[in-house]
Amino acid sequence: MATNRTFTMIKPDATQENHIGGILSMIEAGGFRIVALKKVLLTAERAGQFYEVHKERPFYGDLVKYMSSGPIVAAILEKDNAVADFRTLIGATNPEQAAEGTIRKKYAKSIEANAVHGSDSDENAQIEGSFFFGPDEQF
Ligand code: TYD
Repeated sequence: MATNRTFTMIKPDATQENHIGGILSMIEAGGFRIVALKKVLLTAERAGQFYEVHKERPFYGDLVKYMSSGPIVAAILEKDNAVADFRTLIGATNPEQAAEGTIRKKYAKSIEANAVHGSDSDENAQIEGSFFFGPDEQF
């Protein structure tokens, strides 16, 4: 397993408001290398599959609707300690609790429209990366 990789999505609010470049700049400045990158419009079905772990949570329906409401940018990132360091770079789920200097502090609008996703474990980074990218799309 590639323990030095994580997976991210730039969410619909941030792509819509032209923050793709700003967010990718913060990611690269944070020491991450972009291994794979694409802009995709998820169907509700695909968004539902991606967030399947949350399907019993009260926010699941709205989250699926939101994540399929406009294009997202998916990326695989590489760095030592990638999963934990990327969670630090993005900040807390709720932007009101996100630390200064984090991506969510700068770009998130709400707990749902919180600008970026970041994998929460090496195992999920691998699963989520494979959800979007084949082996010939990761360099
Ligand atoms: P979660 O995995 O808890 O957070 P994170 O993205 O920081 O790992 O939740 C996944 C996404 O679900 C989160 O980014 C936004 C959405 N969400 C809500 O819309 N409402 C909520 O109350 C929570 C906890 C999450």
